[in-house]
Amino acid sequence: MQNFDFYNPTRIVFGEGTITRLDELVPAGARVLVLYGGGSAERNGTLAEVQAALGQRRVQRFGGIEPNPSYETLIKAVELVRRDQIDFLLAVGGGSVIDGTKFVAAAAGYEGEPWEIMQTRGKHVARALPIGCVLTLPATGSEMNCFSVVTRKSLQAKFGFSSPHVFPRFSVLDPVKTYTLPPRQIANGAVDAFVHVMEQYLTYPVNAPVQDRYAEGLLQTLIEVGPQALATPEDYAVRANLMWAATQALNGLIGAGVPQDWATHMIGHELTALYGLDHAQTLAAVLPSLLNDRRAAKRAKLLQYAARVWNIHDGEEDARIDAAITRTRAFFESLGVKTRLSDYGIGADAIDRIVAQLELHGMTALGEHRDIDLATSRRILEASL
Ligand code: NZQ
Ligand code: ZN
Repeated sequence: MQNFDFYNPTRIVFGEGTITRLDELVPAGARVLVLYGGGSAERNGTLAEVQAALGQRRVQRFGGIEPNPSYETLIKAVELVRRDQIDFLLAVGGGSVIDGTKFVAAAAGYEGEPWEIMQTRGKHVARALPIGCVLTLPATGSEMNCFSVVTRKSLQAKFGFSSPHVFPRFSVLDPVKTYTLPPRQIANGAVDAFVHVMEQYLTYPVNAPVQDRYAEGLLQTLIEVGPQALATPEDYAVRANLMWAATQALNGLIGAGVPQDWATHMIGHELTALYGLDHAQTLAAVLPSLLNDRRAAKRAKLLQYAARVWNIHDGEEDARIDAAITRTRAFFESLGVKTRLSDYGIGADAIDRIVAQLELHGMTALGEHRDIDLATSRRILEASL
């Protein structure tokens, strides 16, 4: 196992009816800004519950944070926070709202142009406003990590940043609040969480059996509960397990002390920035062909994945690897997430442009060995068509 420094200060308050706990979680005298998305939290009553739980506190709202939150929208929230001396941010929504809130928290007190935060990946963030979350979509793990992904639409640039200052102080996870998710978002969430585990697991062995078996347990849970959440949308136990699995897929624990890949995500971000695919759609299209392309470097872990996650034990090694990749693709498809770029209207003529964006953004040495260069990314994209 490699050396590591694991830090995660986020408190999780989990279960039905836990939004009322906001009263004890948010400081009594706080001037609160509630940030939310395009209206789902308003329509399904979550915002009203939040407002009631906050009682007599001074509360303002900022709505309209879009999926793949944009710098252009978030900068308006930054202005509001500065103008009205907001001192607590409460994100109510999915990964986009939480990520957007992290950006606002870091930008509010940032000296210099806030886009620099994204360009420097958060390196110079010295402080941030405190953040709390009410999660409505299990997927990204943003509710328990210090990452944020923001898009500057005018540049077609989707960048991530991280800073220990933007860990949420707490996150309220009420599985009932996810009942109103449309099937597409349930499926996206399961795929995103699955790929988060894969990015931290499917690399090469470093004698870390705790992380390996924890990751395999999360993958198997997602394989089990993902389809159940689609089939029986109001099953509390299913939603609870999906939610808790997605949080743990990217709260840092399974990635501590092991090599990490993240090439699928980096290539995927360019696809969203250029063509507007949902985050999970990009992952479903890229991961199977990436695994296939990197099968030599990932051989030992692919065989372990085949055996332990998919119960594939028979046949030649390469046939087992083929079968595991096929099962992975079939799992995504079974949830209704297409796994070919052509399913999303992206053809061979797009590849030059995607590769050019990767180059522009410095994504020229990806993967756990930093050996996915532009030629390899091109090959992976071509295989994803
Ligand atoms: O905007 P509203 O109206 O609220 O609707 C949202 C949105 O349209 C809807 N929704 C959320 N909760 C709902 C609901 N609809 C009905 N009922 C509910 N309870 O779902 C749609 C998608 O929401 P979004 O927040 O965009 O989805 P997700 O949680 O998948 O977040 C995706 C974003 O997170 C980033 C992605 O790149 C993308 O920008 N990621 C963040 C990561 C992190 N911070 O660690 C890691 C990930 O790899 C990912 O990159
Ligand atoms: Zn993701």
